[in-house]
Amino acid sequence: MTDAVVLEHVWKLFRRYPVRGHTTLKDLIVRGEWRKRFKGQQHVEALRDVSLQVPQGLVLGIIGSNGSGKSTLLRLVAGIYRPSSGRIVVAGRVAALLHLGLGFHPELSGRENIIIGGLAAGLPRREIRRAFDGIVEFAELREFIDAPVRTYSSGMYARLAFSVAVHVNPDILLLDEVLAVGDERFSEKSKQRMDRFKREGKTILFVSHGLDKVAEWCHEAIWLEGGRVRARGPAEAVVGEYRNSCAADGGFGTRARVRHG
Ligand SMILES: Nc1ncnc2c1ncn2[C@@H]1O[C@H](COP(=O)(O)OP(=O)(O)O)[C@@H](O)[C@H]1O
Ligand SMILES: [Mg+2]
Repeated sequence: MTDAVVLEHVWKLFRRYPVRGHTTLKDLIVRGEWRKRFKGQQHVEALRDVSLQVPQGLVLGIIGSNGSGKSTLLRLVAGIYRPSSGRIVVAGRVAALLHLGLGFHPELSGRENIIIGGLAAGLPRREIRRAFDGIVEFAELREFIDAPVRTYSSGMYARLAFSVAVHVNPDILLLDEVLAVGDERFSEKSKQRMDRFKREGKTILFVSHGLDKVAEWCHEAIWLEGGRVRARGPAEAVVGEYRNSCAADGGFGTRARVRHG
């Protein structure tokens, strides 16, 4: 079976955010910043030597605590970031739904953003024109389609983003916590659409804190911790392992299960 996504020894380093405000040499020394800089610790290692093969048609869940590198991984696959080292191969058209606020131009209308979004995904204009009505219909934005996107509510924005992503006929779909946005009804509608993608054999990388959803919906899962792949396997097994570890840490995994009253 061919792989849709391959990562080979991928590292992603970010420069640490600079210390706010005025920094003197004395500050650097007193706070130990100097040593850190000198020793080259001014980088965050968001991903550390990640190797991964994702066969076509696999629905892969990506779980792990905040800051473990999930979003960075998706952005690398989307081509938004380049790896600091290592290699990424992506076979097919990618549609990414990463998070609100990414991708649309606020001053432009919904209509213009659909066209730009389609072009960015590699669709020829002709195909965008053909898909246009379907996108607007699915997003339920007919009356607002010529208003600037900055006037949209977050729900409208999310609907438009989701609708564009699913209509560009992607081979690979990247989803970062998106099914949680929008109202109940739209969320149900988007779930059905995702199920259809799964049935059609699209490759899906699905980042979520919804562990039940990952266990139930994904074929496999990986668990990222500190930028490394700590576990990979059948989704239910990996979710179980992650839950156990959270419980042992007394982390949010246990607290989330506390019932009041
Ligand atoms: N653009 C960035 N600049 C600097 N640091 C970043 C950037 N994006 C992510 N990071 C850091 O990389 C690590 C992984 O972040 P991220 O991939 O967003 O984790 P997750 O999505 O699992 O919460 C975190 O320590 C985060 O602070
Ligand atoms: Mg994230």
